[in-house]
Amino acid sequence: MTNLLQIGGITADMRERLETVFKIHQLDNFDPDMITHVVTNGHDGVHPDLMASLANLKVISGYGVGYEAIDVAEAVKRKIIVTHTPNVLNEEVATTALLLMLSCYREVLRDDAYVRSGEWAVRGNAPLTRSLDNQTVGILGLGRIGQAIAHKLAPWNAKIVYHSRNKKDVEYIYYDNLTKMAKDCDVLICITPGGPSTHKIVNAEVIEALGPKGTLINVSRGSVVDEHALIEALQSGKLGWAGLDVFDAEPIVPQALRELTNTVLLPHVGSGTAETRAAMGALTVNNLLRHHKDGTVISAVPECSGL
Ligand code: NAP
Ligand code: 8YV
Repeated sequence: MTNLLQIGGITADMRERLETVFKIHQLDNFDPDMITHVVTNGHDGVHPDLMASLANLKVISGYGVGYEAIDVAEAVKRKIIVTHTPNVLNEEVATTALLLMLSCYREVLRDDAYVRSGEWAVRGNAPLTRSLDNQTVGILGLGRIGQAIAHKLAPWNAKIVYHSRNKKDVEYIYYDNLTKMAKDCDVLICITPGGPSTHKIVNAEVIEALGPKGTLINVSRGSVVDEHALIEALQSGKLGWAGLDVFDAEPIVPQALRELTNTVLLPHVGSGTAETRAAMGALTVNNLLRHHKDGTVISAVPECSGL
């Protein structure tokens, strides 16, 4: 049997399929020299010290598309193949972005509380909300998921604009400057990777450009947004609303954010349906089984595609 180290949780289906060819070791009891394969997730990744101790490591299979928690440069140097789960979660994460947007615009949490508390019967009709129709939506990171978000917005007649490092071959309007784009947007949706190149690129200037009537949606990584600047802007009214699936130090979410009524907060469930997680789990396992069978993988991260 080939020796696989498990980091983080895996589903029963994943375990059953992996156990057909792998002996699965847990972090609290394994011999580093025996491990050739690792299964992990986007949150836990692989700690650099652990990676350094695995002298015979060949493959790291990540359950998730984001892989900033794995030192890929070091993996490439050591010819370790890193895989992830692109595409199978595009539609789900796009749905989550729309869910957050709709919840902010139509004040779903406030109105739900209005009914449950009995206030409706006492105080009459709830205050009006805002229409999602005909908005200018800026997408920060028009990649696989960003494009799925743009497509899903079609019924709301959104004007789509976007910012990324490179202009894409798409019909949407490109901005090479994020602050300028935020100024022209009603909604800014963040869906870039995490890591150093996007660290706090949504800073105070970008948030203030979005403005008091603006809505910020973050389904990327908490690190992409300056959380202190965000809280200050939401408290002072410099920003209107925020819908957040990801946070700087998750699962710890600042008390200030939790107290604000102009936020909708989700516990990093962008891809969190049974159907999509099953597809992600299947691809995570398929990468490992394929490598065990013939030394290739299905979905290497771009940096490892030549290995
Ligand atoms: P992708 O196809 O690689 O798209 C990423 C996009 O971001 C690309 O358009 C890229 O364009 C742009 N980008 C990268 N670095 C940038 C930078 N420094 N400044 C501006 N734009 C930048 O990735 P994806 O599959 O859509 O996934 C995107 C990310 O979503 C993942 O990495 C993950 O962090 C997050 N995610 C979150 C959840 C959740 O549960 N909330 C679920 C899945 C994914 P350029 O290269 O031209 O800049
Ligand atoms: C996962 C994600 O839940 O794919 C990603 O990048 O953020 C989510 O789909 C996360 O990776 C934990 O496994």
